[in-house]
Amino acid sequence: MSSAGTLPTLKAGMVGFGMIVDETYRPFFETVYKEDLYQRSTGPVAVSLDAVVSRTGARAEKYLAENGDKVGGFQSFAGDNAIEEMIDAGVDFACVASPDDRHFDACKKLLGAGVHVIVEKPSVLSLQELDELVALAEKNNVTAKVVYHKLFDPDHKRMRSLVYDGVLQHVNNGYCSLLEPKAISGKQFAQWITGRNPGTYVAVHYIKLIDFSFGGKLKTITAAGQRGLVGEKDGPTWDSCQMKMVYEYESGREAAFDIQTSWVTPDNFPGYVEQEVQFRFDNGLWNGHSRKRGVECTVEDKTPMEIKNSLNNHFNAPFVEPWNERSQRGYGIEVIEQFAKEVAQVEFGGPESERAERLAQIRSLDYNDLSADRQTVAAVQALEAILEKRAQGEPDCVVRVNDENGGLVLYRPGSNEFEVLYEGTV
Ligand SMILES: NC(=O)c1ccc[n+]([C@@H]2O[C@H](COP(=O)([O-])OP(=O)(O)OC[C@H]3O[C@@H](n4cnc5c(N)ncnc54)[C@H](O)[C@@H]3O)[C@@H](O)[C@H]2O)c1
Repeated sequence: MSSAGTLPTLKAGMVGFGMIVDETYRPFFETVYKEDLYQRSTGPVAVSLDAVVSRTGARAEKYLAENGDKVGGFQSFAGDNAIEEMIDAGVDFACVASPDDRHFDACKKLLGAGVHVIVEKPSVLSLQELDELVALAEKNNVTAKVVYHKLFDPDHKRMRSLVYDGVLQHVNNGYCSLLEPKAISGKQFAQWITGRNPGTYVAVHYIKLIDFSFGGKLKTITAAGQRGLVGEKDGPTWDSCQMKMVYEYESGREAAFDIQTSWVTPDNFPGYVEQEVQFRFDNGLWNGHSRKRGVECTVEDKTPMEIKNSLNNHFNAPFVEPWNERSQRGYGIEVIEQFAKEVAQVEFGGPESERAERLAQIRSLDYNDLSADRQTVAAVQALEAILEKRAQGEPDCVVRVNDENGGLVLYRPGSNEFEVLYEGTV
């Protein structure tokens, strides 16, 4: 039973109803429907999923028919005016989890209508889009936030804590890799895969982890990639890609990071969404590996397809709790709950006359505020531009950040010509 109406209530909307919704947003909304949201500053707050926008409405309506009672039902909208219809339904916040290149339009309409927004990573694909959304959020006095759930992974949090406390000192270099199975590019995302690459989709997790954990100024981005499995060998759709970012710190010292991603690893490889990071510091080393930290499980006729061989139970997993209640928990869900608490804090965390101060405080949280996503979006924009040039027959371009020619500038090897991707300061 929901407490909507009897308690201070946040009405929520969901844009997109695909894989990530099933893994994180759906369990969040189902749990909060039963248990409300608690913080001392707000008291209990009800959160109700009132509206869902998706491309065809099919998956949302199937869920409604089979499990809609778990969230108290919602309105399902599809088609060209679906976002406007969601806005008219009167939502306080909306979660945007449509495909990467369709975040901007939805966020723009929602923020423009004074709706708090949280958007899946990558927030948007260019700094121009980012500027527009941040300005809209400011103008309409709402929050614009982005989901980077890997910042909530206990292993990444522990690493950042050691850096924050000065135990691990000055990162020099590192690498990260994330390997997705072929089913992701071949089936799951088949409808929107053309022209996309796995770097924007998942390297962005590590761009943010590096940017947020170590600070510093992004200086240079380079990238390479491979094609021929998901699409044509010389087309715009990428199987795997490798990017390098160079940062400079206040000390004047630099660090370089390599991020490798793929979405064409065989479906039966035991690592399934295998994640690895290694960071090398002046005085230490951090090695993290999703399989080494984790669990390996085999069940006849079920692994690796129905049940994964290497389960990331920290991200999100269905459990029978020791007291025999069923739950679904993990850092992928925590990150959404935290956003809902932040919105509740703005709206119900004190008198209306102090809302502006509360909003400013929530906006200053740089782990998820869109205004603090500049270097991450810059790296994504650079990666996209470098891969696009490669697809057009111009390999090995380099993007430099905040140099004498602009904020984000693409250089071609052996040419004096350059292209300004973003004029302002990143
Ligand atoms: N945080 C993570 O680890 C993680 C994991 C997977 C996906 N994601 C992100 O979540 C987003 C969605 O990915 P997914 O895996 O759920 O994809 P998906 O293909 O499974 O689902 C996409 C959903 O968006 C809907 N949609 C498509 N076009 C739309 C439009 N124009 N307006 C509204 N809805 C539209 C579709 O109907 C579908 O419900 C992407 O941005 C992706 O990068 C994040």
